[in-house]
Amino acid sequence: MYDNNPTLTGIGKEMDESKQGEVFFKETAGGAGRHFYIESYGCQMNFSDSEIVASILSEVGFQPTRNMEIADLILINTCSIREKAEETVRKRLRIFDKMKRNRPGTMVGVLGCMAERLKSKFLEEEKLVDMVIGPDSYRDLPNLVAGAEEGEKGVNVFLSREETYADISPLRLDGNGVTAFISIMRGCDNMCSFCVVPFTRGRERSRDCFSIVAEAKDLFERGYREVTLLGQNVDSYKWENPETGKVVTFAQLLEMVAHVHPDLRVRFSTSHPKDITDEVLHTMAKYENICKYIHLPMQSGNSRVLELMNRTYDREWYMDRVRAIYRIIPECAISSDIITGFCTETEAEHQDTLSMVEWASYSMSYMFFYSERPGTMAARKYEDDIPEEVKKRRLQEIVRLQNQVSFRHNQADIGKTFKVLIEGDSKKSDLEFKGRNTQNKMVVFPKLNGYQPGDYAWVKIKDATSATLIGEAVER
Ligand code: SAH
Ligand code: SF4
Ligand code: F3S
Repeated sequence: MYDNNPTLTGIGKEMDESKQGEVFFKETAGGAGRHFYIESYGCQMNFSDSEIVASILSEVGFQPTRNMEIADLILINTCSIREKAEETVRKRLRIFDKMKRNRPGTMVGVLGCMAERLKSKFLEEEKLVDMVIGPDSYRDLPNLVAGAEEGEKGVNVFLSREETYADISPLRLDGNGVTAFISIMRGCDNMCSFCVVPFTRGRERSRDCFSIVAEAKDLFERGYREVTLLGQNVDSYKWENPETGKVVTFAQLLEMVAHVHPDLRVRFSTSHPKDITDEVLHTMAKYENICKYIHLPMQSGNSRVLELMNRTYDREWYMDRVRAIYRIIPECAISSDIITGFCTETEAEHQDTLSMVEWASYSMSYMFFYSERPGTMAARKYEDDIPEEVKKRRLQEIVRLQNQVSFRHNQADIGKTFKVLIEGDSKKSDLEFKGRNTQNKMVVFPKLNGYQPGDYAWVKIKDATSATLIGEAVER
């Protein structure tokens, strides 16, 4: 289950397994126009981008459909983070290929990180593909579609230093109507040696803070009650107002979004240990509606490995940041990303990662074994020398320990009462609601008369597994 196949959400990591390949639907009225079908893989950023793509296409008369069979245009928004993610996309392309044989006019487009990584090679390798569009070129999609309709194959993988799609109002697709993503920046200027993202997403750039706040306000007015601000490294958000020259930092942006409405919860992802400031932590502590949850990827608990990874912090620095979080926001939950079996990692170094999982008391982690990505610094400089079975065994050890730590973390919540934002029916039963508490923990509880998704309920926790809190609604 964890063999390079992540199970939960977070920026830069693939979305919940159940959401991978999710088809966006919500068909609009009418039906006479042309239809597009879009599948998304990878991280929240990709899912968020698909909503921008949907908005661009709807402007030129395309309607979303959940039914691939009736689509005039099939799009796949792809991820390159690990080899397995790319294999999944190729498998889907085989299926589209079969489809296209039955409906020869259908156009197929590849979007996202794999499009950016492989560029025109995609057209050589995958004959059925009509267009290849990188993450900064979605505005060009209508042109490329027009070309494809004339039988012309097109590629646009231009990476921009400015594009943030700030003026495009995403077409919210297939969501729960309660929680939404807001992309606050694009790209990444870090050069973690294992990571393909700087190559597929380009340079870091921050989006106009006023357009972010306007999007949050609009969502609130439409009934949404939670926004997640997305970026590969939100702590380095920095937007300079061209009129005043004044610079807005991430802490200031958080505060602006928190002011939209006290009933609008604010989350964010991902925080980089080298950049997260005490100012951000104090801002989180100050506002009840900024959720007490930080995704702070450690990657490795060993300083030598962290250096090889070019993470630019060491074990001590990471521990200092964790201590600061628990000091300033005692109720905060922390989660992590962990890679096992990075080049030259020894057993003793692996033990350092295990000990950090225990020490930091993560509420949960996304865990992966190292997958070499072409073109990265690690691929160029280091030998991928840890055998796959060792990588996988280490991964299993981390997963086992994290499950115990998560279980303990959740058991400690039994008897506590949390404010839960109701997201919808629980997976198992339509007699139960599911929602999250401020620490981002999933809470399930029997439905209450008069409550609906988007409402807050107070829930007293009666039981807990390593993944879920189980409770009952109480008066507050
Ligand atoms: N920007 C975020 C995460 C980006 S990628 C950050 O810096 O934390 C999401 C996660 O995928 C990473 O945190 C890392 O744990 C994992 N990952 C990235 N490249 C990988 C690779 N080559 N092999 C295995 N895991 C990888
Ligand atoms: Fe990749 Fe590092 Fe950038 Fe995260 S911070 S996206 S891991 S290069
Ligand atoms: Fe996200 Fe995958 Fe790209 S994790 S940024 S879609 S490589």
